[in-house]
Amino acid sequence: MMSTKTIIAASLVSIVIASGCAVSQSYKEEELGLRKVDLYSEKTVVAEATSYSKVAPGESKMMQRSFENAPPMIPHDVEGMMEITKESNACLSCHAPEVAEAVKATAVPKSHLYDMRNNKALADVSQARYVCVSCHAPQSANEPLVKNEFQPEFRSKDGAVKTNLLDTLNEGVQ
Ligand code: HEC
Ligand code: HEC
Repeated sequence: MMSTKTIIAASLVSIVIASGCAVSQSYKEEELGLRKVDLYSEKTVVAEATSYSKVAPGESKMMQRSFENAPPMIPHDVEGMMEITKESNACLSCHAPEVAEAVKATAVPKSHLYDMRNNKALADVSQARYVCVSCHAPQSANEPLVKNEFQPEFRSKDGAVKTNLLDTLNEGVQ
């Protein structure tokens, strides 16, 4: 039988060993953050260069929607299409319903031709939707530092490539 003293001494020794191990596992400042540089200075921080699609409209490959009825990302080059002004909106010259089919672009959906405040259909794209790029954005080809594990679930078969927000907007509300 071990005496109480021996047991106490043995546990003290193991605590010392255990804490010794914990201390030896140390990290440098540069290893802590995702950017792997000194955390106290911005001087050496260099953002990865953005790399937007250079593929012309008509030749780009559409991206899967991030979730049901998410605004689709812009797959093509937008060079020369910005900025959107009162007088000119390049996006509409291809995506307006009356021209879209002819240029093989996706037409703006019904929700963009609808006045949500007064619940009525409009003849033209709603002014609230005029600045397309406040919701639709191009994507830069960069590797994310933290992988996104989100998996969207689409209720309809073509939910990853099509939109039906105006038809489903009030689901579960009424
Ligand atoms: C010259 C015609 C043209 C112009 C201008 C244009 N697009 Fe496009 N857009 C297309 C075509 C065609 C596609 C289909 C993909 C392809 O073929 O490249 C497309 C695809 C898209 C998509 C993806 C649609 C989907 O269903 O996934 C979005 C979003 C989009 N464009 C937004 C915009 C915005 C915002 C602008 C203005 C900054 C714009 N486009 C300007 C022709 C155009
Ligand atoms: C306030 C945010 C917002 C603005 C501004 C906006 N959109 Fe959208 N867009 C959406 C959302 C959300 C969807 C998908 C759900 C829906 O509305 O049906 C969508 C869908 C689309 C689609 C896919 C249609 C389909 O049948 O799959 C196209 C193309 C599109 N928008 C083009 C445009 C263009 C061009 C403009 C500018 C004239 C614009 N959007 C302005 C939010 C916006």
